Amino acid sequence: MAILASGSGSNADAICRYFSQHPSVEVALIVTNKRNAGVLNVAENYQVPSLYIPDSQWKQGSEVKDILLRYHIDYIILAGFLKLIPESLIKQWYNKILNIHPSLLPKFGGKGMYGSFVHEAVKNSGDTLTGMTIHLVNNEYDKGEILCQVQCSVEPEMTAFDIAQKVLKLEHTHYSPTIENYVMSNQKDDFRN
Ligand code: GRF
Repeated sequence: MAILASGSGSNADAICRYFSQHPSVEVALIVTNKRNAGVLNVAENYQVPSLYIPDSQWKQGSEVKDILLRYHIDYIILAGFLKLIPESLIKQWYNKILNIHPSLLPKFGGKGMYGSFVHEAVKNSGDTLTGMTIHLVNNEYDKGEILCQVQCSVEPEMTAFDIAQKVLKLEHTHYSPTIENYVMSNQKDDFRN
């Protein structure tokens, strides 16, 4: 699989660690659209090939698609990737693109809802519960089928930053096993057919 990320890459780190000795699932490529993204250090630490693909190449997506095909990528894992996935990739990897979102979708999802904006909105809403959602990706932000949702409490004294830290811990715990379960159950289906 390929991990696509735009930021520090703490989820990418957790995923690379989880699958580093896995018998049948491999992180084969890390792609970023940010030249200095922290996720490039993650790639180096785990000796995973990495590529910087500038924003200009994501609109149409045909070059990105060719690159991913060249690496024989079966699954695309979005881990803090801040661009809309081109239609051509969604068609080619139909039901094989996963994303993680730091809220209980459909709450606090959609365009513009990313990073600290999500947690500030949760704080301002006065909700006493938040959490994270892992879902399949289609061509609308944060609208694909939900694979896993885990919640946690929001205490009145928590800041948006505290909420973010608590949710990130959940993300690190649940993203890799969810990817593993999804990939392995698809593999079983492929064998049956
Ligand atoms: C995470 O909160 C994830 O839910 C969101 O972007 C953030 C990425 O964090 N999509 P990191 O780069 O994995 O630390």
